[in-house]
Amino acid sequence: MKVLVIGQGGREHALVWKLAQSASVDEVFCAPGNAGTGEDGTNVDISGTDATRLVKFAKDNQIGLTVVGPEVPLMAGVADAFLDAGLPVFGPRAAAAELEGSKVFSKQLMQHANVPTADFQVFKHADAAQSYLQDREATSFVVKADGLAAGKGVIVCSSRSEALRAIETIMVERAFGDAGDRVIIEERLVGEEVSILAMVQGKTIIPLETAQDHKPAYDGDLGPNTGGMGAYSPTPLVTPELMDNIVSEVLVPTVHALKKDGREFCGILYAGLMICGDTPKVLEYNVRFGDPEAQPVLMRLKSDLAEVLLAAAEGRLAEIPALEWDQRPAICVVMASDGYPGDYEKGRPIRGLEDAAALEDVKVFHAGTIKQGNQILTNGGRVLGVTAMGDTIAAAKLRAYQAVKCIRWDGAWCRKDISDKARD
Ligand code: AMP
Ligand code: GLY
Repeated sequence: MKVLVIGQGGREHALVWKLAQSASVDEVFCAPGNAGTGEDGTNVDISGTDATRLVKFAKDNQIGLTVVGPEVPLMAGVADAFLDAGLPVFGPRAAAAELEGSKVFSKQLMQHANVPTADFQVFKHADAAQSYLQDREATSFVVKADGLAAGKGVIVCSSRSEALRAIETIMVERAFGDAGDRVIIEERLVGEEVSILAMVQGKTIIPLETAQDHKPAYDGDLGPNTGGMGAYSPTPLVTPELMDNIVSEVLVPTVHALKKDGREFCGILYAGLMICGDTPKVLEYNVRFGDPEAQPVLMRLKSDLAEVLLAAAEGRLAEIPALEWDQRPAICVVMASDGYPGDYEKGRPIRGLEDAAALEDVKVFHAGTIKQGNQILTNGGRVLGVTAMGDTIAAAKLRAYQAVKCIRWDGAWCRKDISDKARD
């Protein structure tokens, strides 16, 4: 079978790499891909949101399974286009992807389904939002733009004046465009964040191994929020009892509520949770693999990924045997460009990739890279996800950072404390 992966980040490189290992897979294409997906598969020069050309490519090349990586193509209806053309696709239709695309939709669905989440209010006008803030006794809030804003539309505020300013930024200055037509103001939760990813199709929910992301830019969780500076799997924060609770209190009611609303889900349901004492509360839903969570989670997956994703795409996820996992932990350290998550330059030559690749149980996933002649150049803010397994989290960490040390470019940096939270 030939497989097509849509997207161009570290998550997509991990998908391409894992799918290429499946016995049933002859060739993996990636549209548009990066330098890494071009090494483990074949890149196709089509934008991830160009549904018409993607469907044509899949038909012309007898693609047996398409896997949509990022949320933007899902929101744009790329999975719908494949389904309407009768082509097997892993990823939800746009109507179900709204769970990530609209925070207002997502919070209201959680409220109706009794899924634990922070208390919230929705506002369409800046003045109403601001007078609400003035009337509250609480002083710490989270202000969220409703729509997709590349992970930047959430502003965690420690004071009323910060929250008032956030409303100004989103609704008056319209920093995130139409995504700021509505805002949510919610209570600020305190606790540890974990990412729970589950494969979902119809009523079938198969949780994957747990992971913890590191969203703030700098060591010790300081600095601005990013797309994720590293992740490890599994996280000891999620005990088997807590996992049972998450499945029954969070995932099951959400999947049922979507179905009842005529938005049946097929794909990865990703719950970003805050563990507050013993209670998991949903911070957000995503409708795709996390990036960088996918890198350590997929490295640990021993089952045949193509078979599992095809089963979901063909409506028979309930029939697959239990997933098998490598019991060893894995960690992924993101190497970023100077300036990220703000402005950064592209086009810096990357050296030392072969030395890192030669280390045992290490895989360097590419995110923002491009091949030019024989050189691999930086082409994004998050450039690489250096991922390693080890017998313990400490051993996996040591190995990942050994690999990081092999790699150089002008302005490269990373957090030095990925996975330390597991051992605090
Ligand atoms: P979201 O895109 O909704 O996950 O928000 C991005 C990040 O903002 C989360 O990963 C949290 O770190 C933080 N965040 C979101 N909502 C809350 C909340 N209610 N309380 C505290 N932190 C939050
Ligand atoms: N790592 C966070 C995300 O994928 O949204």
